[in-house]
Amino acid sequence: MKYLAGGPWVVMAAIFACALGTVGCGEKTDPPGDGGGEVAEVDLDGSSLYQAQCAMCHGVTGDGNGIVVMDRPARSFKKGAFSFGNTPEALFRTISNGIGGTPMPGFKEVLSEAQCRILADYVIELGPEPITVQPGQSEYRVVDKPLVIRGGLPPIADGMAPVTRGLLVGGADGLTFEYNTKPLVLLGVRQGGFVDRKDWGGRGGAELQPLGVVSHLVDGGGSSFMWAIFVASNTADPWMPWMANLGATTVSDGIAWVEYKWTGTDVNGSAGLPPQIRESAQAITVAGWPGYRRTFEAPGDSAFGFMQLAQLHVSKVTVVAVGKAGRLLRRNGDDALPTYFLEHTATSDNNVSTLWVDTLYGLKPTEENLRGLKELVQ
Ligand code: HEC
Repeated sequence: MKYLAGGPWVVMAAIFACALGTVGCGEKTDPPGDGGGEVAEVDLDGSSLYQAQCAMCHGVTGDGNGIVVMDRPARSFKKGAFSFGNTPEALFRTISNGIGGTPMPGFKEVLSEAQCRILADYVIELGPEPITVQPGQSEYRVVDKPLVIRGGLPPIADGMAPVTRGLLVGGADGLTFEYNTKPLVLLGVRQGGFVDRKDWGGRGGAELQPLGVVSHLVDGGGSSFMWAIFVASNTADPWMPWMANLGATTVSDGIAWVEYKWTGTDVNGSAGLPPQIRESAQAITVAGWPGYRRTFEAPGDSAFGFMQLAQLHVSKVTVVAVGKAGRLLRRNGDDALPTYFLEHTATSDNNVSTLWVDTLYGLKPTEENLRGLKELVQ
C-alpha cells in the first residue's frame, strides 16, 4: 500500500515523533512552487483530491459504491449521516486518523493538514444540507490538547458492570481511551465526541456519559490483564506479574500520560517495586491498518535493571512473527475479525525504556494485507 512511502520504519519513526510533538504533523506534502503558504491550486482542489484518494472506496459521486470491495461498505456521503461527527473538525479528524476497526485508513501521512481540511469540506458538500447540532452545555469537547476526566462510567458493553472509578482520556486526534482505575486497565477505545458531564447536573453521583462510539473493546471490555516485569537480578524466575492502580495523570506537550501505581509487594521480598511506568495512547495507521498505539515509558536507570515489560493478554494470543531488537507481531485468535498487536521495545538515549503496543484491526488478514505488518517486524 502506498502509505509506506519512505520505508516502514521511517514512517513509524515519523508517527512516533509526531505523537511526541517533536516534528510538525501533516505538513510534509507542501506542494512545490510558491514556497509554503500559497500553493498551486490543483493540489488543493477538493474534487481532484477526492477522486484520487477516496473515490475507489466511497464512489466517484460519493454514493459509497467504489471499486474496492470490502467486508463492510464505505460510507455514502450523499446520505450525510456520520457516526463520528459531521462538523468540519470531526470530519478532519476522521480523515486524518482513519477509523480503527474498519478499512477506512488515516491520511495524515500522505496528505497535508490543509488537504485533509479541504476534503472535510468537500465531503460536507457532497451530502445533504447539514443539520447543525448545538452541543449541550454540559458537553465537554477536546479542542487542541487532551482532556482527562475521572468519574463513574456506565458499562462499556452489554453484560459488563458499570465502573465506579473510571477515567476518560480524550485526545485531540478524536479518540477517547476509557480506563478502570482500580486496578488500572484500559477497557476500550471510543471515537467521536468526548464526554457529557451529567455529574454536573446538580444531582450528585451521576455517571459521566462518554459520547464516542466504541471502536475497540480490550478483551471484550472486561480486560483484566496484569503486567509482567522482567527482573534482571533474578533470572531463575524472571517474569513477575504485578497489578497497579492509577497514580497521577499529567498532560504535557499535548500528550496525556497516565501513571501506574503498583500495588502489593515483591513476592521475593527483596527487590522492591517495579520501576515507575506511565502510558500515553493515540490513533495510528500502520501499513494501512488503522488502530491505536499505547506508549509505555519507564526510567531505564531503575534498581531493576529494567529489561522488558509486557502485557499478559487474557485472551489467547499467538505470535505471528518475531523480529530482532524486541519487535513482535501477535494475533488475537479468538475474534472473527482478528486483532494484531505490533510490539516494540527500545531504550532511548535519555535513559528511558519504551514499549509501544500498536493494536491494529479492521482489515481481513489476507497475505497481502499482512505483508506490511510482517515487514515492519523483520
Ligand atoms: C480503503 C477504502 C477507503 C478509502 C481509500 C477511504 N475510505 Fe473513508 N471509509 C471507508 C469505510 C469502509 C468507511 C466506513 C467505516 C465504518 O464502518 O464506519 C469509511 C468511512 C468514512 C467516513 C465516515 C465517518 C463517519 O463518521 O461515519 C468519512 C468521512 C470518510 N470515510 C472519508 C474519506 C475520505 C475523505 C477519503 C479520502 C481521503 C476516504 N474516506 C478514503 C473506506 C475508505
